[in-house]
Amino acid sequence: AYRVSKILTTSWTDEDVPSIEVAARELEAYCSDLIADRRRSPKDDFISEYVASVDQDANLSAMEAIMQLVSIVIGGTDTTRAAIVIQTGLLLERADLWEALRKDENLIVPAVAEALRVEPAVASIPRLVVRDIELDQHFIASGSVLLLSTMSALRDPEAFPDPERFDLYRERPRWHPVYGDGPHRCLGQALAQLELEEALRALVGSRHRLLPTGQQLNVHGHAGIRQVDELEARWT
Ligand code: HEM
Repeated sequence: AYRVSKILTTSWTDEDVPSIEVAARELEAYCSDLIADRRRSPKDDFISEYVASVDQDANLSAMEAIMQLVSIVIGGTDTTRAAIVIQTGLLLERADLWEALRKDENLIVPAVAEALRVEPAVASIPRLVVRDIELDQHFIASGSVLLLSTMSALRDPEAFPDPERFDLYRERPRWHPVYGDGPHRCLGQALAQLELEEALRALVGSRHRLLPTGQQLNVHGHAGIRQVDELEARWT
């Protein structure tokens, strides 16, 4: 999954394509085997329920049924992994906020939301253009693929006044734009929120204190899933 998800970042080169393709075929085979296994012997789990509803509705081809699972695996892999490192780094850089979180658990939810706004783990949403569009003297032909920059939208001063400021107390839209919009809005949002909030709660709630080492947080990429360098921290 980690090798495949590289294709959704901005950091791959032509040389990476063969190994990404091999990994994509391995992941496809893995998901296909899972589907076959649960069809043979259903268990009390998500995939068995999924297979049963695919078979009942019969509106997906075999490959589409596999690809839905592939996209859940990829969607749930590098996104939260990067987001946990990013939110930890952003908050450790701000010692006063880290201290405030240690004292008040109610700040965990806004801290996760604000970290996702300031340095999102996913920077854009993909859309297929279905009719010709003229926008700001540019022509976008029907059939083009667009990456709409949520990273830019998340710093829009009209939506988020003083957007460069990391502010736990700012007003937020009910639905965080980092997860996209419309029928294809992130399927894993609820799970992602839980993972990010629980990770932060565990780190700030520890009786040991997590401290930055002075190493800078480095997040790369401005489209698709972003990449983050390893970040060192130490416990007292
Ligand atoms: C911080 C974590 C995450 C972020 C920022 C994120 C962001 C996004 C974005 C921007 C999209 C595109 C939405 C659109 O086109 O409007 C998306 C789609 C998707 N995400 Fe996530 N995601 C995260 C975690 C997860 C997790 C944990 C899972 C699954 C376990 C997941 C599964 C998916 C799937 C399956 C789609 C495709 C939905 C579709 O096309 O209908 N994501 N995500």
